[in-house]
Formats: sequence, C-alpha cells, structure tokens
Amino acid sequence: MSTGPDVNVVEPTVSVLLDPGWAADSLISDVRRGLGSQPRTLPPKWLYDDRGSDLFDQITRLTEYYPTEAERALLAAHADEIVQLSGADTVVELGSGTSDKTRTLLDAFSSHDQLERFVPVDVSEGTLRTAAHELSRRYPGLKVEAVVGDFTLHLSNLPAGGRKLVAFLGGTLGNLYVEERAAFLGALADSLAPGDCLLLGTDLVKSSDRLIAAYNDPSGVTAAFATNCLSVVNRELGADFDLDAFSFVPFWDPHMERMDLRLRSETPQTVAVPGADLTIELAAGEEIRVEISTKFRPDQLRSELAAAGFALEQLWSDADFALTLSRRTP
Ligand code: SAH
Ligand code: TRP
Repeated sequence: MSTGPDVNVVEPTVSVLLDPGWAADSLISDVRRGLGSQPRTLPPKWLYDDRGSDLFDQITRLTEYYPTEAERALLAAHADEIVQLSGADTVVELGSGTSDKTRTLLDAFSSHDQLERFVPVDVSEGTLRTAAHELSRRYPGLKVEAVVGDFTLHLSNLPAGGRKLVAFLGGTLGNLYVEERAAFLGALADSLAPGDCLLLGTDLVKSSDRLIAAYNDPSGVTAAFATNCLSVVNRELGADFDLDAFSFVPFWDPHMERMDLRLRSETPQTVAVPGADLTIELAAGEEIRVEISTKFRPDQLRSELAAAGFALEQLWSDADFALTLSRRTP
C-alpha cells in the first residue's frame, strides 16, 4: 500500500479574491437593499454556505430535478467534440460547486491529453476547496487553480493566459436578472481572447407542471435549501427571522418565462437585523424572493450571446435542457 503522496499529483492552489469581511459587508448591503425595501429580495449567492451547498447537492439527486441529469447526458454525449472544437488547454468553471458533472468533460480532456489547467470559481469556499483537492488527485499532472470569487465581480481577475474554455453550467445564468445577464456576458467576453469558448448550460422553457415539480419536491429538500438563506442572515447578522413561520412558494411566471422562488411569512413578524442596523416588518402573507430561474429558448440564447460578443457554434439539446458552445468573436 502506498503511504506517501501520489506521484505527479500537483497540489491545488486556492486564491481568495473575496476580502476578509467580504461576506459581512456585502451581506449587509444586500440585506439593506434587498430586504429593507419592496419587493423583498435577496441575491442567490447567499443560498450557498456549506449547508446550502450540501442541500443543493441533494437537490441535484432528486428525481424531480431533471436539469442535472439532462446536462450530464449532454456533456457525456458531446465531450469529445467540445474538447476538439474548443482546442482549450485551460478550463475555467464559474459557479463550479462540486464540479461533479464537469468530470465528464475533464475525463474527455485528459483522454486527449489536452488540458493543463482547471480553474474552478465559486463563492462557496469550503465546497470549492474540497472539490479542488479531489480533482487534483483524480487528474495527476493537472494544475488546479481554484478561485474563491464572485463571478459578477471578479471576471477580470481570473488567471490569465492559455486557450480557454469557460464552462457555466447548471442553468446558473438563469439565476441572473435580464440586465445582470447582459452585463455578466459582456464582462465575460471582455475577459476572454478572440477564439476562446463559452460552454453554457441552460434550462429550456417547458410545461409549468414539470417546472413546478422540479422546484417543489415532496421531501422538502428544496424548501430547506430556499429557507437556508434566512439562516445565513440570522447567523451572520444576528437576525431573528422565525424560519418555521415561512412556507416556500415556487411559481412559474409565464410572462418572464422564469421560475420565481419565494418564501412567504405566514404570520406577521418584526425581524431585527442588528448586524445591518435594520428592522423589517413583514405582514402576514408577505413574500421574499430568494431566486429566479429563467428558462430559455434557443433563438433568445443565440441573440443574447451575439449581443455580448459570442458567436454560437453548437447547440445540443434534449426536450429539457440545452448546452451551447460559442466562441468569442474578434
Ligand atoms: N455548476 C454546478 C452548481 C450550480 S449551483 C452545477 O451545475 O450543478 C450554483 C453555484 O454557483 C453554487 O456552487 C454557488 O455557490 C455558486 N454561485 C452562486 N452565485 C455566485 C457568484 N455570484 N459568484 C460565484 N459563484 C456563485
Ligand atoms: N441554479 C439552480 C436552478 O436555477 C438553483 C436552484 C435549484 C434553486 N432549486 C432551487 C434555487 C430552489 C432556489 C430554490 O435550478
């Protein structure tokens, strides 16, 4: 039995772009701006502390939550093509989480012996560190340069150089509002060189029944995940949200073509948030939006990508989910 470190394993590096205190400062401003006024909202990144990342991982294994397996199958079917078309030696993954599905892609890159670097980027530091260590061991020789950062703020600070493929999977693009989406795609295009590629996984518009089922499992994992962001505010800012008073309300907004995921306070509550110097009066039935999850149509993807400076080269889809490969235009 081998006792020493594996030969060829390159230890991962983890750069932290979030300042110490970032979580506190940025949570305070998000809570003041989002929860202190109406409509009440909280940006989705606060869903993903260690517990939230673990609950999301459980969501990906629910039978009702079809996106993960749909995307995994598309990745498996087209991985070799993605490797060849991208010509990449560096894969950057934004909102990488556990990078579980990404292994399908990394396996294909390693069988073509094409990959030098993998750069997973996530705000969830614990999950990212664990994933970075596991990936270094799984792919000896691969440089894993993990970045604890916010993909809405830090795209210009990611490691430079190499022919890049940026993977943005899981339908996470749909969690941004339309104007944030355009700003994000534009900033991403600016951070890339002509010829670099974007591999984007997006969920497609479909029947509301199927969508609502995917976001409202009977076991309550999704509700626990959604409610977790209020536990984060309670813990980090000393707030006293009564979590048991909330019910989870996911609904389909047919006009915006997005899932709208809310928490409803069934009873009136006066919530003190001392860390943000704020008191929130919630009426009975008042709702807090914790996430939107926009569903797309292929033509809309093509035009939003083009507007940002990406030419769509391939669109692979099943009835549920689409994977697109686009290239940064000169
Ligand atoms: N890519 C994975 C995980 C999707 S869940 C999959 O397809 O299953 C969304 C991930 O994005 C979480 O890991 C979350 O921590 C991360 N995330 C959310 N907002 C972020 C932000 N603004 N910057 C960086 N990571 C973010
Ligand atoms: N990015 C995931 C999605 O849009 C996140 C998610 C899944 C989610 N289920 C949720 C967010 C429930 C809030 C509530 O599908």
